[in-house]
Amino acid sequence: MSFKVAVVGATGNVGREMLNILDERGFPVSEVVALASRRSQGTEVSFGDRTLKVRTLDQHDFSDTDICVMSAGGNVSKEWSPKIGKQGCVVIDNSSAFRYDQDVPLIVPEVNPDAISLFTRKNIIANPNCSTAQLVVALKPLHDAATIKRVVVATYQSVSGAGKEGMDELFTQTRAVFVADGVDVKKFTKRIAFNVIPHIDVFLDDGFTKEEWKMVAETKKMLDPKIKLTATCVRVPVFIGHSEAVNIEFEKPITADEARDILREAPGCQVLDKREDGGYITPLESAGEDATFISRIREDSTVDNGLSMWVVSDNLRKGAALNAVQIAELLVERGLIQPKKKAA
Ligand SMILES: NC(=O)c1ccc[n+]([C@@H]2O[C@H](COP(=O)([O-])OP(=O)(O)OC[C@H]3O[C@@H](n4cnc5c(N)ncnc54)[C@H](OP(=O)(O)O)[C@@H]3O)[C@@H](O)[C@H]2O)c1
Repeated sequence: MSFKVAVVGATGNVGREMLNILDERGFPVSEVVALASRRSQGTEVSFGDRTLKVRTLDQHDFSDTDICVMSAGGNVSKEWSPKIGKQGCVVIDNSSAFRYDQDVPLIVPEVNPDAISLFTRKNIIANPNCSTAQLVVALKPLHDAATIKRVVVATYQSVSGAGKEGMDELFTQTRAVFVADGVDVKKFTKRIAFNVIPHIDVFLDDGFTKEEWKMVAETKKMLDPKIKLTATCVRVPVFIGHSEAVNIEFEKPITADEARDILREAPGCQVLDKREDGGYITPLESAGEDATFISRIREDSTVDNGLSMWVVSDNLRKGAALNAVQIAELLVERGLIQPKKKAA
């Protein structure tokens, strides 16, 4: 059994990673179609050892496509995902356009796989925000063990989370600083090279940013609506890999040793926690990896049943493309999708 898969946004950061991961994991494809905007028509992208010519989204007929992984931003998704879904093609969307829609499941396979069955309502499945995906992978097993009451998280998010323009801006600005040239600020609100910016997405009325709000809403939707969470989201001059300093207050007692043992066994998690120089993961080491890495696990004696930890993952993989491919795998494993075209 194999599926015709369309990758929308195939020339972007997430789309390219999506093609890599579909190939690496041997997802059963009969055909892969690379789609992007008219700007990229005719350019080429790699899929394993094959080269795909990029076609335009608005000229593609989805009637014989089984799965569409969509990574082209919220506006493109709002316009296209419902139309594609109506053609009987399951959309796995990386944007925030449908994440908070009650008729659209928001899925991290290690966390809430059973919620996927809801997808038939619109034929759309949402992928969470990159900073939420890695956080819930680490929180879920701890919540099961000791029930989380409250989480305080500060993120250190790489520029690739802002797309290919974000990566270009860090590169260009860094070079400009070294050659004593003028530094242009276009994509971010302030210079990102040799700086950090406590602002991701738009400001809301209460002073939080939309990125911070997303972490609250998505954690509640996927893990438990009773969990209280507050976030500060910060952009840092790192190309790939989001880091998070996480403080958790539990209902029940849990020691750092117990948490370490639980996380060692938990799906998608990898613990690297030696209390010595370099005995922890940094974003550089997470790039290209599938795991959510957890380090610096320690008890916080300033609250009852408190733990602090450091969580790092490749935002383009678990934060986006890997999670989307895992969702596609879940559809196949559970027999929730059948290829439209039978193999000859
Ligand atoms: N980066 C992350 O860590 C991350 C994590 C989770 C979710 N996401 C989400 O994933 C999506 C893509 O992010 P990205 O980082 O890959 O952005 P990106 O590098 O800027 O790539 C954007 C992609 O969308 C395509 N696109 C833009 N307008 C289009 C249109 N009108 N029709 C068809 N294709 C169009 C672009 O094609 P052209 O090359 O033709 O312009 C490009 O392939 C966003 O919704 C983002 O929020 C990103």
